[in-house]
Amino acid sequence: MTLHVSTAIFPVAGLGTRFLPATKATPKELLPVLDTPLIQYAVDEARTAGIERMVFVSHPSKRAIERHVMEDARLTRELEARGKQEVADALSDAALCPVEDDVRFVMQTEPKGLGHAVLCAKDHVLDGPVAVILPDDLILGPVGCLSEMISAYNARKVGHLVATMEVSEDRVHRYGVLSVTGKDGAIVLADGMVEKPKPQDAPSRQAVVGRYILDETIFDALDTQKPGAGGEIQLTDAIARGASTLGLGGFQFSGTRFDCGSKAGMLEATLELAMDDPDCLAVLKARGLVDDTASFAA
Ligand code: G1P
Repeated sequence: MTLHVSTAIFPVAGLGTRFLPATKATPKELLPVLDTPLIQYAVDEARTAGIERMVFVSHPSKRAIERHVMEDARLTRELEARGKQEVADALSDAALCPVEDDVRFVMQTEPKGLGHAVLCAKDHVLDGPVAVILPDDLILGPVGCLSEMISAYNARKVGHLVATMEVSEDRVHRYGVLSVTGKDGAIVLADGMVEKPKPQDAPSRQAVVGRYILDETIFDALDTQKPGAGGEIQLTDAIARGASTLGLGGFQFSGTRFDCGSKAGMLEATLELAMDDPDCLAVLKARGLVDDTASFAA
């Protein structure tokens, strides 16, 4: 049976403390990689994957996210009046339309963690499994990460499917880490998951990055979830509780993931995309950062 993944939840209420002072007045999800804010990549990925309803779990201080993702008819008209039809078209193609698109904004007013953020979306999701996208994990590649995850999810039924990649031992403490039991193609089978373990306690080096397809029972699990690491309601803990009954898999995606919640990750993503922009590529070449065949200099 194919379970339709029709809802995507975007937890975007966080304060972005890792990126201060840039995030003092600007939500971290609106920081651009070249000229496109992180949230736009996330929305595009969800759209490409056929998501019908998008639920943004935001914060009252971050209304700019709503202004960015939703259509701005006045700005479009203004640009058209100034003869900038191409820019106007690009903006309205990228934006969500309040009439044609199914979009909800929910406020998470207390910083109680990622699990709590997902729980805030409970009354706003469509039936069936839900996708969760963390916009500061930018995943670039020829196929959208969520699209390939949904295909894998439909092909091999596991209750919860999380995106995963191998990291070095000194980095496991930054991630949710899978307790691995086996492998089936691109899916790592697991019977549990631990949030930000110390290297010596990590069950594996398979780290979870910000894409999830979760069985709808996740909301009941979150409802009764006690605070975990950092005193927050952890999504990881609620997923782990369902692992033995529902099944848990880690999907090894084909794209490249950039940690755009950090300066280094943001720089890497920017350099990656700069290679596709003729003006930026010329700058990289002039600085000797790439050679004439346009690959990064060693
Ligand atoms: C969150 C999750 C963690 C996951 C990570 C991926 O952590 O809690 O399990 O591995 O995202 O980016 P955060 O980076 O918000 O601290």
